Amino acid sequence: MSGTANGSVTVTIDGSNKSMKLPLIHGTIGHSVADIRKMYGEMGIFTYDPGYGGTAACDSKITYIDGDEGILLHRGYPIEQLAEQSTFLEVAYLLLNGELPNASERKVFVQGVTMHTMLHEQIRAFYNGFRRDAHPMAVMCGVVGALSAFYHDSLDINDEQHRRISAFRLIAKLPTIAAWAYKYSIGQPFMYPRNDLTYPANFLYMFNAVPSEPWQPNPVLVRAMDRILILHADHEQNASTSTVRLAGSTGANPFACIAAGIASLWGPAHGGANEAVLKMLAEIGHVDRIPEFISKVKDKNSSVRLMGFGHRVYKNYDPRAKIMQATCHEVLRELGIVDDPLLDLAVELEKIALHDPYFVERKLYPNVDFYSGIILKAMGFPTSMFTVLFAVARTVGWISQWKEMIEDPSQRIGRPRQIYTGPAKRDYVPLAERS
Ligand code: SDX
Repeated sequence: MSGTANGSVTVTIDGSNKSMKLPLIHGTIGHSVADIRKMYGEMGIFTYDPGYGGTAACDSKITYIDGDEGILLHRGYPIEQLAEQSTFLEVAYLLLNGELPNASERKVFVQGVTMHTMLHEQIRAFYNGFRRDAHPMAVMCGVVGALSAFYHDSLDINDEQHRRISAFRLIAKLPTIAAWAYKYSIGQPFMYPRNDLTYPANFLYMFNAVPSEPWQPNPVLVRAMDRILILHADHEQNASTSTVRLAGSTGANPFACIAAGIASLWGPAHGGANEAVLKMLAEIGHVDRIPEFISKVKDKNSSVRLMGFGHRVYKNYDPRAKIMQATCHEVLRELGIVDDPLLDLAVELEKIALHDPYFVERKLYPNVDFYSGIILKAMGFPTSMFTVLFAVARTVGWISQWKEMIEDPSQRIGRPRQIYTGPAKRDYVPLAERS
């Protein structure tokens, strides 16, 4: 633990003489924590926090979120400045190493990623095992997990070099795996990565190009792709990052941990929300039908949610959503899409929701997923690929958080406890005696 201990929280069990002081630990910025590690041993009780809404599971230096103020920092740098002035690979270096690279460090890092973008030729065979209409996230789970079978030279997580080469391989190969998942789904030939292209341009090339025609990157779309990747790179201890950390705490290899993160991200409450937003907008269909949809959302019996809205941490505007909205306008303008009905619908839906007491009282604002789908659809990505792109970007955050955990000397296997509310001990009843 690298916070600063100062002060304590006293816990007393009513009606007993049991009491203890929990050390209060302060980070650089943000909420302090009460260290409960000794509470079970001294007081014989656990804490209870399903969903971990009020529980710090680790000590991290990578990302800081102030949900009330709508602030997101990566190693102290505001997401607005990184999205505007940096590149995805430079942010990847920052997340992994803690500092922005100088010119030579950046050159070496980019070269290192570039040299690992190709896949082992036998990995192509994995794709043939899937139906053409398989959801690409299912393909991602399978193929990324299978990488463990190809890199026996880098599975020792205690070896710094193994951790380093695994990080390069995962960051470099995810775009190729993702683009091939798409090409497989439409029956087009796989496009091999090109070392003469930048990371975002290479991804757009592998996704869009065909062997029979030359392909030229559109600089506006390449810049937009790079910015979208930056906005999805890391986000503190979200569900998929926590999944990667928990898997990694057992000593599982990094490829298996990232595959676990991809599986967790797939859920519509998490990374699957961008795909769900497009489905929701299509279901609403027209601005005139927004009030009818909003009343369904407010009806507790309907289980309908305003996808792309709300967040466990942000109780203010997600700063990424604002940048995404601006990027949306840039991309649509570049593509000559003057009035995209989906964007018009989303802007009107946001306007109505932000003034509706139901959403205001619950502090529900647009999150990163609200506008991303509109951009990706305009760029030609099918909705089934939206979460795949999220996974490509978040792999950088996952592997950075995994590396931080493995290198933390106080790291232990994750093993939450529970409150048991099932039947107390009882004897087996033979079948003949059961009613
Ligand atoms: C991501 O954790 C991260 O950082 C995730 C992420 C990242 O970068 O990794 O930011 C990426 O996952 C963004 C979130 C994408 N998901 C969605 O857009 C799906 C729609 N949003 C929700 O399902 C919801 O807001 C969550 C899951 C994101 C957050 O859920 P919480 O914190 O558990 O909130 P909650 O369910 O306790 O809701 C509190 C209240 C409830 O109403 P009451 O019971 O108090 O009456 O707000 C309501 C909820 O019903 N509510 C919503 C709502 N989200 C919460 N009502 C309508 N529409 C919504 N979207």
